[in-house]
Amino acid sequence: MKTYRIGVLPGDGIGEEVVREGMRVMKALSERYGFRYESVHYPFGADHFLATGEIIPDSAFAEMKKMDAIYLGAIGDPRVETGKLERGIVGRLRWDLDLYVNLRPVRLYAEHLCPLKGKKPADLDVLVVRENTEGIYLGIGGFLRKGTEHEVATQETIYTRRGVERVIRYAFDACRRRNQKRKLTLVDKANAIGAHDLWRRTFAEVGKEYPDIRTEANYVDATCMWLVKNPESFDTIVTENMFGDIITDLGAMLQGGMGIAAGGNIHPGKVSMFEPIHGSAPKHRGKNVANPLAAINAAGMMLDHLGEEKAAQTLDAAVIKLLNSGKLPSIGTDSGVSTQKVGDLVLESLG
Ligand code: IPM
Ligand code: MN
Repeated sequence: MKTYRIGVLPGDGIGEEVVREGMRVMKALSERYGFRYESVHYPFGADHFLATGEIIPDSAFAEMKKMDAIYLGAIGDPRVETGKLERGIVGRLRWDLDLYVNLRPVRLYAEHLCPLKGKKPADLDVLVVRENTEGIYLGIGGFLRKGTEHEVATQETIYTRRGVERVIRYAFDACRRRNQKRKLTLVDKANAIGAHDLWRRTFAEVGKEYPDIRTEANYVDATCMWLVKNPESFDTIVTENMFGDIITDLGAMLQGGMGIAAGGNIHPGKVSMFEPIHGSAPKHRGKNVANPLAAINAAGMMLDHLGEEKAAQTLDAAVIKLLNSGKLPSIGTDSGVSTQKVGDLVLESLG
């Protein structure tokens, strides 16, 4: 039997607490399904940086490249310059491991969690495929005359044909595998950003290989409107990096809050990274109030990626059952149910 090697990087803020619950669930599922894993814990994040000046040493990075998966909590801390750790840890993992797909399911687990009136779980089930290695995130740009009234700041948006094509192809395949509405929506802003023509052309060309998938292209602003108005009109979405970042926060709130939304940073067939999509919420750190369901769902996505589909499905069903049981009134930090208690309830729901 294979032993999965998992790099665990809890990071900052509430990362440690939510990852702890995710690992408890992993342990329970490994006992039930008989798979084995070995976890290697990494201390990287703000505390480590402030104590040692180190973000991630190359040696740890080289080690992580050989893992089967990486499980990340959250990165970001107000004591450190904005973006330094985010780029140095989350960004570096995405770029250096070439995790070109950021897979973010937006699903309604229980009707009462949705802020939209009258929407049922069947009305909100969207798979967002976010490009994860290009766009404006590359950080190409800089400042001129910094600090003066004539300051100029630039940051370029980079798309490559290869980068665009591979994520679009992944999205078509994912849409086909889901086998639901068989509809793939390209989200862009081609009416204002000329470079998005590359996305439009590539989408149309690759789409010819998938005659069974209906396609449409929507502007990102209109997409926000439709996601609130008619979320049931979406099946799978493919989009560039920053638009994917933004629409999945909107998506998370439609699901009931940031406390539930998970994502996978994936390079098919290679080491991939799984994380809750929420941030580090430093003000909630150590208070045992953060909902760990997003981190737990990320563990489920990791299991699915590792090939433990049965375990992942069982966990998914347990989360749905729990959220429909009335034991968890909301998934915010004000739910009155502690981080650890939510972990207990998931374990209980797993049976
Ligand atoms: C996310 C986060 C990151 C992003 C930050 C931490 C750089 O918001 O994973 O959605 O923008 O990608
Ligand atoms: Mn984000």
